[in-house]
Amino acid sequence: MSAPDVGTPGVRVVEDVAAAALPVVLASLTAAVAERGVAGMALAGGGTPLALYRLLAEVEELDWGAIHVFWGDERLVPPDDPGSNYHAAYEALLSRVPIPEANVHRVRTELPAASAAAEYAGQLRAFARQHDPGRPAPWPRFDVVLLGLGEDGHTASLFPGSPNESKGPVLAVTADYQGRPAGRVTLTPAVFNAARRVFFLVSGAAKAEAVAATLGPIDDPVRYPARRIQLDEGVIVWFVDQEAAKLL
Ligand code: 6PG
Repeated sequence: MSAPDVGTPGVRVVEDVAAAALPVVLASLTAAVAERGVAGMALAGGGTPLALYRLLAEVEELDWGAIHVFWGDERLVPPDDPGSNYHAAYEALLSRVPIPEANVHRVRTELPAASAAAEYAGQLRAFARQHDPGRPAPWPRFDVVLLGLGEDGHTASLFPGSPNESKGPVLAVTADYQGRPAGRVTLTPAVFNAARRVFFLVSGAAKAEAVAATLGPIDDPVRYPARRIQLDEGVIVWFVDQEAAKLL
């Protein structure tokens, strides 16, 4: 899949992050299904991507039978808990599109943290073996990864100061951020960096410092974990609104 279908990599300062990202996400998913008969997408948690999920739910032409959905991270709360990233995506998107249940790969948060992480790694392995059998790594090359950015610079559940190395695909972590659930399971940079496309979605003045530091000249991936996202062979686009971009 060539980069022109998502345009130039880098940072796009836009009016509306969801509206700007929608056509690029659609192009990436559609191209993947056309080329390989399947698309894998890892959803971001938090509030920023929900507007995009609601727009995606309105799109008629997506072949949801060929699209598999995972999460970049998940909080260790029940799937019907308002703090669940699965729950948020289910309400905004998955309950409104004809996606087969087997295509929805949620983290089994009803399990203890380490078991949930191991089980999720098994889902990644099974998907990779089924759809990319020649691939040595036991996790897929996602066609689309959506990521947010916290005010502290975290992305997914990779938080500042966390160890900047992980050989495996999934970690169980704890983090204290804005009173959100502390127990989490997260994909690691090993998985994110295998992706074909990573789209960061960032909006609001509260993120301006984290955006400027993450995209700035000082390379400190321990302090700013979003800097750990450096694709092996893919395209990263940052969709940032004016408020979040004001210190760039
Ligand atoms: C989570 C998210 C997290 C999120 C950022 C930004 O589970 O909390 O995956 O990484 O993307 O915290 O969240 P907002 O979009 O709500 O600001």
